Amino acid sequence: MSTNTVFLPGGTWSLGELTVTRFGYGAMQLAGPGVMGPPADRDGALAVLREAVDLGITHIDTADAYGPRVTNELIREALHPYPASLHIVTKVGAHRDEHGGWPPARRPADLRRAVHDNLETLRLERLDVVNLRLGDATGPQPGSLAEAFGTLVELRQQGLIRHLGVSNATPEQVAEAQAIAPIVCVQNMYNLAHRHDDRLIDELAGQGIAYVPFFPLGGFSPLQSSALSAVATRLGTTPMSVALAWLLRRSPNILLIPGTSSVAHLTQNIAGAGVRLSEDDVAQLDKIGAAG
Ligand SMILES: NC(=O)c1ccc[n+]([C@@H]2O[C@H](COP(=O)([O-])OP(=O)(O)OC[C@H]3O[C@@H](n4cnc5c(N)ncnc54)[C@H](OP(=O)(O)O)[C@@H]3O)[C@@H](O)[C@H]2O)c1
Repeated sequence: MSTNTVFLPGGTWSLGELTVTRFGYGAMQLAGPGVMGPPADRDGALAVLREAVDLGITHIDTADAYGPRVTNELIREALHPYPASLHIVTKVGAHRDEHGGWPPARRPADLRRAVHDNLETLRLERLDVVNLRLGDATGPQPGSLAEAFGTLVELRQQGLIRHLGVSNATPEQVAEAQAIAPIVCVQNMYNLAHRHDDRLIDELAGQGIAYVPFFPLGGFSPLQSSALSAVATRLGTTPMSVALAWLLRRSPNILLIPGTSSVAHLTQNIAGAGVRLSEDDVAQLDKIGAAG
């Protein structure tokens, strides 16, 4: 139950019958460096998660591969028993090797194990949304998802998953998944400077399906652009705020999952994402993606 709910920019969106705030929280960066091992500031990580929910955020994005296990265990420690309004979206399809790499793990046995691992670490009976993560670290790769996605459909039929999505997927893979079973979201890399999915976003919006950009702030390489800085300076805010406000304005089906390990950045991002962008601001910002 939120005790300190503030106005969250963007309002809400429906993932099936689940209502989530469009301003969500991405938990990946709570793990240690390279998304491996425990966080440097464990109490700080727990505080960010509690603050996110206290401020009214009802959508947290995670994966058991973060840490591995670390991020899910932090979420459980900070927030279990979960408020009924909170929806945790997780993903399966990659595991971690000893070098911190993300090799694919999409055979049926891998996926069954991953779903059970997520249920255990998050201490849930059923996962609200599970994304099948495809491709590799360089981005989406072509190829059929039928066997892997079919395995998740079976797990959903067993009552272990409420809704499915895909991540790091090509438009063809999104269509292939939809031909097998309904999806509620697509989670791909997208931000002001990386706009390969523009057409996909519009198509999904027409179908009422969420598009959840990962790396909304640039991820490990923060967004940097003179046009972005100029708009932020003109509006008296930060480039991060403008980047988030632009995403909220880009399409109503876009849900934000910016990551941060800092309560100060979390509150700054919530306040900043509500900044009003003029038509001229948007025209300037649109040039960044066109150039990139
Ligand atoms: N499906 C996939 O394959 C995939 C891949 C990557 C990520 N994801 C998901 O997407 C989420 C978001 O991605 P991300 O966290 O990697 O990238 P991001 O949201 O683009 O950026 C996070 C980075 O921005 C910094 N930051 C945030 N707010 C800031 C502010 N106000 N001022 C200065 N710095 C700020 C954070 O540092 P501080 O901690 O210092 O604030 C952090 O280093 C992840 O949490 C994860 O859930 C999914």
